[in-house]
Amino acid sequence: MTLDANALKQAAAQAAIDYIEPWLKPDAVIGVGTGSTADLFIDLLCAKRDRFKAAVASSERTAKRLRDGLVRVLELNEVTSMPVYVDGADEINPQGEMIKGGGGALTREKIVASVSERFVCIVDASKQVEVLGRFPLPIEVIPMAQEAVLRKCRLLGGEPAVREGFVTDNGNIIVDISGLSIHNAVGLETEINQWPGVVTNGLFALEKADVALVAGQGGVTLVE
Ligand code: 5RP
Repeated sequence: MTLDANALKQAAAQAAIDYIEPWLKPDAVIGVGTGSTADLFIDLLCAKRDRFKAAVASSERTAKRLRDGLVRVLELNEVTSMPVYVDGADEINPQGEMIKGGGGALTREKIVASVSERFVCIVDASKQVEVLGRFPLPIEVIPMAQEAVLRKCRLLGGEPAVREGFVTDNGNIIVDISGLSIHNAVGLETEINQWPGVVTNGLFALEKADVALVAGQGGVTLVE
């Protein structure tokens, strides 16, 4: 039987629940990502709500889903440490570097992940790539910088497009850059983050995944 994409995401989400078991303690705060794979993880996490103190959400969407599942949601400013952050990705390479932000939540995801001790990436095998860039790289941009940022994207050799009708939880726009072949993810993440008006970009290479749980037809593989 061939598992479809949703079944693979479900398998990755279940593997994450099993993986974080040692950290489910009465005082623990769990960091939670955004997206369809993260949603499946949230649903499983909500069933374990009596085992941990609270969660920090990487988006309004995730906060609502957690609250609907009766999980206490804390603001990041109320939290000093988190043992683990669980989130999906749009692409991940063998080094654990990722492109994220397909759901537009990249900035809050990066902030919450930076406070957690361990980034657990949950993906189906279709997200694994040798070289990042087939998935358009999202960047969150303050609206008045839109045209300046688009020009800089073109100088990089990319084809930028403003994500139509989309406003981030922070009130900004997303520019998606197609046509990149990213061989130095740390360098590109650093460079784009220097552009005035860029809030952050969707490369997670300076702080990459500590572990990836990759669901394929043969089961879930743990990549460290
Ligand atoms: C949202 C993200 C998501 O993690 C990424 O887009 C993957 O989403 P999905 O699990 O739906 O494929 O970065 O900003």
